Amino acid sequence: MPVARAPGRVNLIGDHTDYQDGWCLPMAIDREIAIEFAPAGTAPASSDPFVTAVCERFPSARFEMTVTSTLPEQAGLSSSAAYSIALLLAASHSAHMPLAGRELALAAQAVEHRATGVPCGVMDQMASVFGRAGHALLLDCRSLGVTPVPVPEGIDVLVVHSGVKRRLAGSAYADRRAACEAAAARLGVPALRDATLAQVADDPVARHVVSENGRVLAFVDALRANDLPRCGQLMNESHASLRDDFAVSVPELDALVERLTARGALGARLTGAGFGGCVVALVPNDRTRAITAELPNRHWVVRASDGASVS
Ligand code: GLA
Repeated sequence: MPVARAPGRVNLIGDHTDYQDGWCLPMAIDREIAIEFAPAGTAPASSDPFVTAVCERFPSARFEMTVTSTLPEQAGLSSSAAYSIALLLAASHSAHMPLAGRELALAAQAVEHRATGVPCGVMDQMASVFGRAGHALLLDCRSLGVTPVPVPEGIDVLVVHSGVKRRLAGSAYADRRAACEAAAARLGVPALRDATLAQVADDPVARHVVSENGRVLAFVDALRANDLPRCGQLMNESHASLRDDFAVSVPELDALVERLTARGALGARLTGAGFGGCVVALVPNDRTRAITAELPNRHWVVRASDGASVS
């Protein structure tokens, strides 16, 4: 029986930039949702809003399915994006109208908007679709261009759960997104991607987005030059900006960032929307064991992996 697979993602740097046409640097990870599917007489019967939204898009799809997952839920590792992509792959193949690439990512974003009501950007879906083993993905969220950037040998990407379920994530996310749109409108630019730091100096929310875009591009330069201390410093600055300017951190995430950097991580930051969920850290791999051994929190050393597929 065919199996549709879609990985989760972790974002190394560039949060709350995607819905302002900006830059981000996620990677697909070695944790996924898999859906085994087979032809059937009817569409899958389910009260699950994701299934409903996917069946609306492919009304002629007739299949039954079994869903399995190695991706923790509610951790901010994009299990909902992975789920909607795997569902769309199963439905589109069953309907003999296979979706792939950007079309698949955009369809999954639309499913998530419909199923959850949260006006998410497209980073999570692009990362899950375009993942490449051993690489992070520089996403240009205006052109939807994808540039794979090798993750150097010698470092581990460590994801640590703060223990805080994401609080008010939906409404606070929508509020931040609206504040960014209002700032862009005030400046008369299509999106904050087009604003300069000088233009947003007095607006902390917009200042985060503009400065974060700069950090993403600087991080990619540093990664290519194998300047890992600089990468770590940019991650720490990103966290400070998300905490102080964009106000999406919580004390548990701040404490975790401090703990990890104090114990030898090169840098650490909240990853994803914030308001709880996970921190991502870059750790020289000879320090990973010592750092994780004494961590009481749930954590995962993740590897950059290939994107969604049907096989
Ligand atoms: C969530 C959204 C993404 C992105 C991040 C913040 O993960 O789904 O589109 O906006 O938050 O960077």
